[in-house]
Amino acid sequence: MFRLLLLIVLLAACGDDEPRPEPTPIGPPAGSTDLEWGEQLFQSQGCFACHRIDGGPSVGPALNGVAGESRTLPDGRTVVVDADYLREALTEPEAVRVPGYEGTVMPTYELAPAQLDALIGYLQSLSVMAR
Ligand code: HEC
Repeated sequence: MFRLLLLIVLLAACGDDEPRPEPTPIGPPAGSTDLEWGEQLFQSQGCFACHRIDGGPSVGPALNGVAGESRTLPDGRTVVVDADYLREALTEPEAVRVPGYEGTVMPTYELAPAQLDALIGYLQSLSVMAR
């Protein structure tokens, strides 16, 4: 009897060892580079609805050529648009002020760190091409 009980307990314990599905890692779709993923995110997240990448004005500033520009932050500091600035623009839009767009707010995005990196890389690549 004890052996049977032991067997049942063991079987029950084994049943718990079923492999659990891993959470899907967030990364570029198969066959896409990080840069291509950044471009896809720019489309799929709807950034293009407010930002053009050909220099033209829209609801928000054009984003080609933005990397490397100077910006004065609300706290008075003047900074160069680098990866940190771009990250802040996406995660804390109220922390950046673009001349000519004062008073217009950009929505805050809930993006995974890898998605943020891909978008930032894409935005930086636009400026390289603009030069
Ligand atoms: C509803 C319109 C809207 C959408 C959608 C939007 N933005 Fe913006 N964005 C703005 C506005 C307006 C500003 C200027 C904000 C300010 O000056 O306070 C801005 C500012 C920025 C800046 C700072 C630009 C600079 O010249 O310093 C970056 C970078 C940026 N947005 C990236 C993005 C990305 C990437 C997405 C998509 C994930 C996105 N935005 C989606 C409206 C939008």
